[in-house]
Amino acid sequence: MKGVLLAGGTGSRLHPLTRITNKHLLPIYDRPMVNYAIEALVNAGITEVMVVTGGTHAGEFLRLLGNGHEFGIDRLSYGYQERPGGIAEALGLAERFVGEDPVLVMLADNIVGGSIRPMVEAFCANPTGARILLTPVEEERHLRHLGVPAFDESGRVCGIVEKPSDPPSTFGVTGIYCYDADVFRVIPTLEPSGRGELEITDVNNHYIRQGTMAFDVLEGFWGDAGESIDAYYAVNDFVREHGANKA
Ligand code: G1P
Repeated sequence: MKGVLLAGGTGSRLHPLTRITNKHLLPIYDRPMVNYAIEALVNAGITEVMVVTGGTHAGEFLRLLGNGHEFGIDRLSYGYQERPGGIAEALGLAERFVGEDPVLVMLADNIVGGSIRPMVEAFCANPTGARILLTPVEEERHLRHLGVPAFDESGRVCGIVEKPSDPPSTFGVTGIYCYDADVFRVIPTLEPSGRGELEITDVNNHYIRQGTMAFDVLEGFWGDAGESIDAYYAVNDFVREHGANKA
């Protein structure tokens, strides 16, 4: 399985910090944010990775990560998104790198306390369709900043609403996704959303409509350090106290 780490975007929710660097290079406790996502992939057994970044600080990733060997990566590639066109557009840049392999996609501002290995193993056992990782979220205020799944009577995800004003459940969709290579046939069919971006939620809803979407519920801590300055500090506090990528 290949890994794609998405580390682009303008990071506008963390302005002015992100005027002078890429969000994913900001520190989380004692390391740049992106290092945690790299570690999560390597711990899950993924050693061929493409980091997709963009903007004016892309060169810093090369300086930080080099050829990836120091982090346990065998092959590290880089992609460059020329304009902030959304998560799904950024993923599209990895098409030739991924080829016909299954792919684990992770937003590099997502930090997990535990391991994503169970999800990766479940998808690798039957690498068709898509698989998302959900996390329980209590506060409605927080759910409104995320993708939120709706469930049918049999407990299957029947749709995902992006940034819902009225969240259909108390789970958030984390930025950690498994796809088969069909994802690169889905992305070109998407229309830009209201914010002018190709949304990963539209990719996921495609798989849901097709009946090939599975999900897991993540055990332990999950945080999106890019969501707001308060979320950034909450993730920092957690990692300083408990560490990340344990197990
Ligand atoms: C993205 C996704 C959203 C998901 C979130 C997780 O949102 O669009 O569905 O819940 O990542 O981090 P963004 O952070 O781009 O607003």
